[in-house]
Amino acid sequence: MEGLWLVVLVIFEMALSVQSQLRTGFYSTSCLDDHDLVTLVGAHTIGQTHCQIIRYRLYNFTATGNADPTINRSFLSQLQALCPKNGDGTKPVPLDKDSQTDFDTSFFKNVRDGNGVLESDQRLWDDAATRDVVKKYAGTIRGLFGLRFDSEFRQAMVKMSSIEVKTGTDGEIRKVCSKFN
Ligand code: HEM
Ligand SMILES: *[C@@H]1O[C@H](CO)[C@@H](O)[C@H](O)[C@H]1NC(C)=O
Ligand SMILES: *[C@@H]1O[C@H](CO)[C@@H](O)[C@H](O)[C@H]1NC(C)=O
Repeated sequence: MEGLWLVVLVIFEMALSVQSQLRTGFYSTSCLDDHDLVTLVGAHTIGQTHCQIIRYRLYNFTATGNADPTINRSFLSQLQALCPKNGDGTKPVPLDKDSQTDFDTSFFKNVRDGNGVLESDQRLWDDAATRDVVKKYAGTIRGLFGLRFDSEFRQAMVKMSSIEVKTGTDGEIRKVCSKFN
């Protein structure tokens, strides 16, 4: 059941990348409302990435070859230990520190504390609009906000699934997420 949910999420993510690539400016002509933000902001509360995807943040982020300064110092040491400079790039790294398998709000606390794993997640803290969403779900009344995140994420997924879906030869499913086929 959990596996199925993950598959659905990943397929949804693929569909998103296909359509945003097909129409340049898609997001500037469509309105992103709070719900949409919830889905883009909250998707990485489960799942994992790999050392090769984040290595540049640990060893080669700045022009002088230092780590990404937005990474929490103690988390940086942990990540460097997990992903040594010339180590195995395929080694998995949880996207949501300490809470990889739970669909919960700890992801938002991590972003607040500089413990976001992907640069794109950590950068949610840079922009005022996305920072507000992060703050809202990282809120102190944990149970309450946890419940709200759960139901708001569901609504956001349903809503976003109705955004124009490419069919037939209109689009392509990428073989490598970051590249045209
Ligand atoms: C700007 C949007 C997004 C970016 C840049 C992004 C980027 C990424 C990256 C880089 C990974 C790690 C892949 C790897 O290391 O192999 C990942 C994993 C994942 N993403 Fe996203 N993502 C985005 C949006 C979403 C959305 C909207 C969802 C779901 C609604 C989602 C769900 C997931 C899940 C579940 C995983 C973990 C997959 C696994 O554990 O195998 N992502 N994402
Ligand atoms: C470090 O980053 C620079 C700039 O992106 C790149 O040209 C260089 O190949 C990288 N070095 C390593 C060791 O990955
Ligand atoms: C670094 O992360 C820890 C939790 O892992 C947190 O307690 C601490 O406040 C964070 N530091 C900063 C500067 O956000």
